[in-house]
Amino acid sequence: MSGKERGRKPSESDAGAVHQIHLEGMPMCVVWGGTLPSAARSGDMKIVVIGGNGFIGRELCRRAVEAGHEVTSVARSGPPDPAVRGPWAAAVEWRAADVFAPQDWRNVLEGADSVVHSIGIIEEHPTEGVTFERVNGDAGIIAALESERAGVDRFVYVSSSTTPPRTRSAYLTAKRRAEAAIADLAVESVVLRPGPVYGPEQPHFPAPVNALFGLLGRFDVVARQFGADRPLSVETVGRATLDVAVRERVPDEPIDGPTIATQYGGSRTGD
Ligand SMILES: NC(=O)c1ccc[n+]([C@@H]2O[C@H](COP(=O)([O-])OP(=O)(O)OC[C@H]3O[C@@H](n4cnc5c(N)ncnc54)[C@H](OP(=O)(O)O)[C@@H]3O)[C@@H](O)[C@H]2O)c1
Repeated sequence: MSGKERGRKPSESDAGAVHQIHLEGMPMCVVWGGTLPSAARSGDMKIVVIGGNGFIGRELCRRAVEAGHEVTSVARSGPPDPAVRGPWAAAVEWRAADVFAPQDWRNVLEGADSVVHSIGIIEEHPTEGVTFERVNGDAGIIAALESERAGVDRFVYVSSSTTPPRTRSAYLTAKRRAEAAIADLAVESVVLRPGPVYGPEQPHFPAPVNALFGLLGRFDVVARQFGADRPLSVETVGRATLDVAVRERVPDEPIDGPTIATQYGGSRTGD
């Protein structure tokens, strides 16, 4: 698919188009034969969040439920821990499934308007197959291919601005590979590239680091010094992610941290 065609909705003539997708060293052919997507992007939507019980995913699920959308999460352990879920969680369908076993979850894509991919790791466990290449790269490509095949209108990929400290560069290489592969599919897609995300129950950084990011992130003049890697609150990232999942148009280019802060930041909306 050419660059100009990127982001357009599939037409009937796309049915049967073959895409070559690179999955960790092996080319894979996939035939697109999905149904045509619905034309409208207004009213109540059906949103599928891959990784909906995670730190960012559950903030997105909460916001989407509160905005009146129908929400389904796909994650191996199903719903979030009771300690971090509120009453809104009762309105979400929690599908317990591994993204690498799409036969166990692809039926939730039926009739979905938007799919948000919010899976990622900063720590690898290679003996269990948990590597940056697979989880930060292949998982997103698989979810996007399934979305394309199901005729979903839009695929939102939560990526990252940078490789976290003391982490292999493969973290970001895999994310950029997924971004490129997803952009070539016949599903409209949009990429968010936040820097570090802080907030309650942040699972990745020690509490003092989470608090420090919170302090830095709240002062725009300080946060701006970090450029694309500026810390962002989970509320801001959740708001941005929901907006790009439901809005009428999305940009072709990835949305970076400074843009997320300007358009969705707390000082604008009073987080
Ligand atoms: N947090 C940050 O500071 C930050 C910064 C920049 C970018 N990001 C990006 O934002 C996204 C979300 O990050 P997060 O902090 O919300 O991560 P998180 O809290 O670790 O959540 C990850 C989610 O992915 C699910 N998951 C992992 N492996 C899976 C698999 N094989 N099949 C199905 N579900 C799976 C987890 O649930 P189960 O374990 O139950 O499967 C969980 O719901 C990632 O792409 C990350 O790289 C995060």
